[in-house]
Amino acid sequence: MSSTQSTDELLFVGKKEDLISAQRTVVSLQGRDVLIIYHEGEFYAIDSYCYHSGSSLETGDIEELNNKLCIICPKHKYKISLCDGEGLYRARDRSQSPPPLRWFSKGVKQRVHPITEIQGELYLRPATSGYIESDYYQGEQGKVERERAALADKGGGRGERGVSSPSFCASGRTSDLQAILCVIDDVSELHLHCSHELTAHHGVLLSQEVSS
Ligand code: FES
Repeated sequence: MSSTQSTDELLFVGKKEDLISAQRTVVSLQGRDVLIIYHEGEFYAIDSYCYHSGSSLETGDIEELNNKLCIICPKHKYKISLCDGEGLYRARDRSQSPPPLRWFSKGVKQRVHPITEIQGELYLRPATSGYIESDYYQGEQGKVERERAALADKGGGRGERGVSSPSFCASGRTSDLQAILCVIDDVSELHLHCSHELTAHHGVLLSQEVSS
């Protein structure tokens, strides 16, 4: 993580050549961890921890989805626009018959920040307006949850959002539950819509109750 210094409202991020060389850099700016991405000639600045449950986005794949360049969270594959922080998911459009798969928006979920180059150096103007879900994982409580999730990933405790150790039970065929749950195509999105974490296994959905 690099050190930073402030000039008026702009915060120094780093030298352009260093950020290009690194491709991805996490900087701490006024207590906020921001991921700086250099991708195909452009810089992006986005909150470093995923709005869903606080996993680091640093190693997420980047893909163009629905004409938007998105980072895909490594943990549960949520798709987040790099330009504006919009969450995207793909589902069946029930307004048509037969219902085609198409992309839907969850609205802005991840905070992104304007970034600008001045004489070979990159500066960021922190975006602070309103509340965006990724703000939670920059705060103290979010930090505690991130640390707890990291511990659970290493096999040392409870997972994110209070998920206990594996105790899966078969809930039904994927096709049946998809019909009930608006036929959401991407299983990583399903647990947004019910109180259970869901995992696909050979065409059958397994559920695990979430305690909070
Ligand atoms: S933590 Fe990013 S998708 Fe769940």
